[in-house]
Amino acid sequence: MPEQGVSDVYMSQEYLTPGARETVELIEQRISVEENTRILEIAFGKGTTAMKLAQKYACSVVGVDAHPFVAAVHRGVRKRVLNSISLIRGDGGALPLRDASFDAAICIGAPSIVGTERCLAAMFRAVAPGGQIAVSDFTWRLPVAPLEAAPPHINPPRPTLGQYAATIEAAGFALEFAEHLPQRVWDDYYAPVREASTRLRAANPDAPEDLIEAEFRAYDAGRDIWAYSVFFARRP
Ligand SMILES: C[S@@+](CC[C@H](N)C(=O)[O-])C[C@H]1O[C@@H](n2cnc3c(N)ncnc32)[C@H](O)[C@@H]1O
Repeated sequence: MPEQGVSDVYMSQEYLTPGARETVELIEQRISVEENTRILEIAFGKGTTAMKLAQKYACSVVGVDAHPFVAAVHRGVRKRVLNSISLIRGDGGALPLRDASFDAAICIGAPSIVGTERCLAAMFRAVAPGGQIAVSDFTWRLPVAPLEAAPPHINPPRPTLGQYAATIEAAGFALEFAEHLPQRVWDDYYAPVREASTRLRAANPDAPEDLIEAEFRAYDAGRDIWAYSVFFARRP
């Protein structure tokens, strides 16, 4: 499929992460967000979570995302939520922000994209002692998976829940929660993307296999192994 198709298939998505909605619900349950709570969001994507939290709780959110469209997302978000959100372009592993200046930090679906260890180290520095973090990421239910279950662009293999939790603890945090989301979050997330991808394929039957098609093939082969997990931890 032509390169254009890759971003097209995500166009209608509110979030760019399986289970993001469920993850935000857990964040609302487990992190005490109030007026003026200072939240850092690494890799905010379309800004959906930042906007939701700022609108609902009048908290302040600073978001950092590496994507070149950050300025456009910021303009869209600021039209609806004034002043309490600041979205900046930057590397989530090397934050241009003062240490210990947040009450909580979240990163939905992106620590492993930023680089898990460096992302967690940046979150550790950013939250004040006693502050909480929430992250979600792609994990495997088993330490190894058949080759065909591994998506072509994911290397090395995904950690298990326990391995991921150990990485969070190694970053200095006290772990509070580690659970797989229900398996349907993958199916729910992929459903509209598959539909869009199938439409593009019908229009371009001879195009070479796209990355997202290879990803679907791997998911179909690895459905029993793929998981999506959420973690909460606190800086002592
Ligand atoms: C899977 S999306 C998740 C987006 C959002 N959290 C959501 O759930 O909708 C990954 C995001 O990571 C961002 N990203 C990739 N590398 C990054 C980096 N080094 N620092 C900050 N953001 C990064 C991408 O631009 C993209 O918005």
